[in-house]
Amino acid sequence: MNLDPPASALAYQSGFGNEFSSEALPGALPIGQNSPQKVPYGLYAELLSGTAFTMARSESRRTWMYRIKPSANHPAFIKLERQLAGGVLGAATPNRLRWNPLPVPEEPTDFIDGLVAMVANSSPEKPAGISIYNYRANTSMQRVFFDADGELLLVPEHGRLRIATELGCLDLEPLEIAVIPRGMKFRVELLDPSARGYVAENHGAPLRLPDLGPIGSNGLANPRDFLAPVACYEDAQQSTRLVQKFLGELWGCELDHSPLNVVAWHGNNVPYKYDLRRFNTLGTVSFDHPDPSIFTVLTSPTSVPGLANLDFVIFPPRWMVAENTFRPPWFHRNLMNEYMGLIQGSYDAKAEGFLPGGASLHSCMSAHGPDAETCTKAIAADLQPSKIDNTMAFMFETSQVLRPSRFALECPQLQTSYDACWASLPATFNPNRR
Ligand SMILES: [Fe+2]
Repeated sequence: MNLDPPASALAYQSGFGNEFSSEALPGALPIGQNSPQKVPYGLYAELLSGTAFTMARSESRRTWMYRIKPSANHPAFIKLERQLAGGVLGAATPNRLRWNPLPVPEEPTDFIDGLVAMVANSSPEKPAGISIYNYRANTSMQRVFFDADGELLLVPEHGRLRIATELGCLDLEPLEIAVIPRGMKFRVELLDPSARGYVAENHGAPLRLPDLGPIGSNGLANPRDFLAPVACYEDAQQSTRLVQKFLGELWGCELDHSPLNVVAWHGNNVPYKYDLRRFNTLGTVSFDHPDPSIFTVLTSPTSVPGLANLDFVIFPPRWMVAENTFRPPWFHRNLMNEYMGLIQGSYDAKAEGFLPGGASLHSCMSAHGPDAETCTKAIAADLQPSKIDNTMAFMFETSQVLRPSRFALECPQLQTSYDACWASLPATFNPNRR
């Protein structure tokens, strides 16, 4: 397996939520109807629905695929002996938690074996909530996977990936992200000896671009910078293991063909990638700084306007020009729950301890903000325009409390002294000095 795709398959179509279309053979895409009696080239037509049929047109996600064999051509799935690492959820805790990066295993580990559950706020059968994983891999998948429990947002921190999907290939490197629709089959191949990163599994409404309100019609992540693949199929009549995640458990079956056998397709339920370096970062040009929602790349809304099931927020390189302002992220307590990761460099609220590949969890109403060293420096600083460079932190922010997995609570990477970073904040109050 792992057929090298032709060079023509490593191309992209740009836009967000478009009615994309692509064909790997000329004329493979039926014209004017979705399911003709005879599909060109003897292909089968198949619909993948990412939303209920009757959703509003603006919410609807679906893709028509024209494939060598329909997905229904599979034997029964059998529950795998080796399940996802991380185990069941542990006890909820109001404490602030922070983890050092997990090492890449030394034994052969593909993307599925290297997934480890860190936190979650929903059981997979609920149509809302998120689960968050780390992935570590040193081997390309020799099998194909799909996730019936949610859409997957991949945030690589180390190592380049090729994600071969039913609709085509996405090549991904750190500082890019990819989103794979719920149920879409894919294989993760490594383009470097090892890979590591973060995954948010979105059980709720599919991710979309946030509304811009008074910002206007441009800014933040611009639609044309989102890239969907072009059709690329594998006509391989050989045994292929297909694995799915269904209600939190892994099930597998053997196919006699590659399920990445889609010759043509059209629709808006597509995998896509986005380069975070293209984010048009906005911020204050006077004083204070806006809420971090100004850095939202993608959002999964709930039925309550403005309340996200999942916001994917980044903290990219940017100029700091605010006058008479405490410039680091302010001290705060938040209704929302914040799981943060770091892709490169350092984060401007923490002097040390928050490492690329590491993570932190600040749950609903937990008090947090810059550590003592950062705070002291920020108050003493001679404020000049300055650039925060060589950094890319991000946040998965969600409206429901995240419970750590048992693994996340017991692993040696859990820092035991995270609270100490705020312990030495000095008392500088003096009622006689205004
Ligand atoms: Fe926060």
